[in-house]
Amino acid sequence: MSSQNIYILGIESSCDDTAASVIHNGRILSNVIANQKIHEEYGGVVPELASRAHQQNIVPVVTQALKKANITKDELHAIAFTRGPGLMGSLLVGTSFAKSLAYGLDIPLIDVNHMQGHILAHFIDEDGYNKPPFPFLAMTISGGHTQIVKVSGYFDMEVIGETIDDAVGEAFDKSGKILGLGYPAGPEIDKRAQLGNPKAYSFTKPKVDGLNFSFSGLKTGILYFIQNETKANPNFVEENLNDICASIQYTIIGILMDKLKLAVKQTGITHIAIGGGVSANSGIRKALKDGEQKFGWTTYVPKFEFTTDNAAMIAIVGYLKYLDKDFAEQNVAASARLKI
Ligand code: KG4
Ligand code: ZN
Repeated sequence: MSSQNIYILGIESSCDDTAASVIHNGRILSNVIANQKIHEEYGGVVPELASRAHQQNIVPVVTQALKKANITKDELHAIAFTRGPGLMGSLLVGTSFAKSLAYGLDIPLIDVNHMQGHILAHFIDEDGYNKPPFPFLAMTISGGHTQIVKVSGYFDMEVIGETIDDAVGEAFDKSGKILGLGYPAGPEIDKRAQLGNPKAYSFTKPKVDGLNFSFSGLKTGILYFIQNETKANPNFVEENLNDICASIQYTIIGILMDKLKLAVKQTGITHIAIGGGVSANSGIRKALKDGEQKFGWTTYVPKFEFTTDNAAMIAIVGYLKYLDKDFAEQNVAASARLKI
């Protein structure tokens, strides 16, 4: 990478987190996130509320990111923003804000694909963190995405597998809802899974060809299972919650690992990077570590703050595109279904 002295502001607003980050060359100086608590009581993200909360949060979040980085906006070289994919109302807030700021400061505007952000987060300079070599496989697992991507260069990516219905994080969250857990349920299922028996109950894995995923059948299977068991014993869930969580998590991780093994087999690539909120899951982390021993994989798991939705990942893509002078025009439009 270049040794120029480049400061870039990254802005992320694709879902329910308003985030801003300043990157100096490859290093993150600030990474600020305003989470929207408002969605918890609805058990999921409500798009209209998300958009309104972004409007309220964006100025304070950007101001704080600049302050924490100890720079003024006049020192910025470019503004990078998430163009998509995501919720249209949410994307529009970040997009219009980024456009006006870049226009006002008369500096380049850089559009960023959120999914590329999750993957290129591995290229943030961090002491002691080894970046994956090209080509590598990236598995993005979150509440909004589930993909396996073959990454041959910073901007040479091919999606080789993805979900045909729910994302893996939704599988955790919707299962948790059936069990009466709060939203998002992933972290609690993980915590309880560590205290339970993963083989207590078995759930049918979906049959999807190739490298694609499906999680909606699993959710239905769990619903019927719980309905059946509670008919016989109304206290079934509370009496067996840890075992149920462990069994659900075991099944979901099994699905992810089966596809990952197939992807390695098909591509011959053994360097594997993960990203997205579900990478925090202790079971998937352990399964990947085991894969290093069992299959000779090398795995890459970035710091937690760079795996969930954040603006540091948008800033690093902004920096890489800045070096390529790959800028956007002022008429660039947000795109809810933007592809890699
Ligand atoms: O990346 P993220 O913060 O937001 C997007 O969805 O883009 O991911 C949130 C998802 C939620 O579905 C949440 O339940 C899940 O990540 N999650 C977990 C864990 N921590 C977060 N799922 C399983 N185990 C965890 N420890
Ligand atoms: Zn995301």
